[in-house]
Amino acid sequence: MPGRLKLGARREEALQHAAGLVARAWHEFDHAREVEALPSPELIATLREPLPDDPGDVIEDLDLAAEVLDTSLAQARPRYLAYIGSSGLEVGALADLLAHSYDINLALDARAASYLDRQAIAWLAEFLGFPAGAGSFTSGGTISNITALAAARERALPGCRTTGMGGRRPRLYCSDEAHYSVTRAAELLGIGRENVRDIAIDELRRMDPVDLARQIDEDIAEGVTPIAVVATGGTTLTGAVDPIDAIADVCRDRGVWLHVDGAYGLPAAASASSGFRFAGLDRVDSLSVDAHKWLFVPKACSAVLVRRMSDLAATFSHDEAYIPHEDEQLNAVDITLEYSRPLRALKLWLAFRVHGAQAFRDAIDRNIGQARLMYDLASADPEFRTRAHPPQLSITPIQHVLPGCPDVDEHNAALCRAIQEDGRVYLSPAVIDGEIWLRPCFTNFRTTDDDVRETLAVAAELGRDLCPAH
Ligand SMILES: Cc1ncc(COP(=O)(O)O)c(C=O)c1O
Repeated sequence: MPGRLKLGARREEALQHAAGLVARAWHEFDHAREVEALPSPELIATLREPLPDDPGDVIEDLDLAAEVLDTSLAQARPRYLAYIGSSGLEVGALADLLAHSYDINLALDARAASYLDRQAIAWLAEFLGFPAGAGSFTSGGTISNITALAAARERALPGCRTTGMGGRRPRLYCSDEAHYSVTRAAELLGIGRENVRDIAIDELRRMDPVDLARQIDEDIAEGVTPIAVVATGGTTLTGAVDPIDAIADVCRDRGVWLHVDGAYGLPAAASASSGFRFAGLDRVDSLSVDAHKWLFVPKACSAVLVRRMSDLAATFSHDEAYIPHEDEQLNAVDITLEYSRPLRALKLWLAFRVHGAQAFRDAIDRNIGQARLMYDLASADPEFRTRAHPPQLSITPIQHVLPGCPDVDEHNAALCRAIQEDGRVYLSPAVIDGEIWLRPCFTNFRTTDDDVRETLAVAAELGRDLCPAH
């Protein structure tokens, strides 16, 4: 029957109701809630029901969806400090609703949306201080890294997209602190995981350019082809920023592609307090940055930017009967890995327009200040241990070290579980040099300095409870 997939007469009511649910969520996110709400057994039973054949009630089902979301781990909450989150920026959520309603496809030219997409890429490049020749929004840092490294591979071994590696020995270079997506790219691009060279790091956990130069030279002498160096602009574990300028010197002298994986940290290149750490960014060949991390917009919104459009075209352009090439113009699918692509750009574009770029620089600086506040408070507290150096960006690993608690690692693993069960704050653990640490990450514009203090207080309280011998 035609029209059964339309909301029809309930459309306005459904929209108003959804708006009310969103407003309630946003209001809640303004402050930390006392304790996490957990899914009820009834809700879990509902979520195990089989596929319905008959229609439900849109209002009731929207309420059910809201209940599921409300009892899920939401990164938008100000005390969600686990992993590296995004924070569901309000205008970003509105942009998603609009973009998904129009459901534009950026595989080919989409008229005005394609202009907007290119403008958002240009604004992002300007924000970061990178002279981009082209770029595209992708579903995440993983895909952005694979896209850039595919272009680097084609540049280092021209024609390999056609002929394969053909017995040639490729190699990638990054430190052990690089994100796993770099290894994944090596696996998928036929480079091979064993051909990812592990470059030494210094006491700040940053790549050592001297070791990098030595390893590349050794490889070149043995007839190996360097594909790319991947510097990390904010490592996932501790937020270390590799020395991009010095690494760019090494790459320039040897003609090797330099990619910066800044999925997490690169927005800090625009910040007043930490921009200096990214010196040399204007010299690199490509970069990845996740707007759905430290530019606060909802997932998924990553971007890969390259210096030269021709590198993407050499890697991805193709002719197919179903893809018109009018006037020899490149389509989006000629410079991207993905085919059907939603208008991810809209949320970043709208966010920059509505709030202005300075608001983003300020919010990033606030998060950096919060990481430093956590470091200073924990360092001054004899019950906590911090790293030897203050955070470079917005990740501050801490350990609870109570006299009388025999195994610090076991204690901190148990403490992390206790914090997650307690529900006032949400932290994740991390293993650093074989030790278990709590790892608060500050990438949420809603987090306040009070949230930082409360997080430490909760960790101390629950840590003492776990260690009655104290
Ligand atoms: C440095 C770095 N690169 C890549 C990624 C992967 O990004 P995504 O989860 O968006 O694929 C992450 C995720 O945390 C990251 O921190």
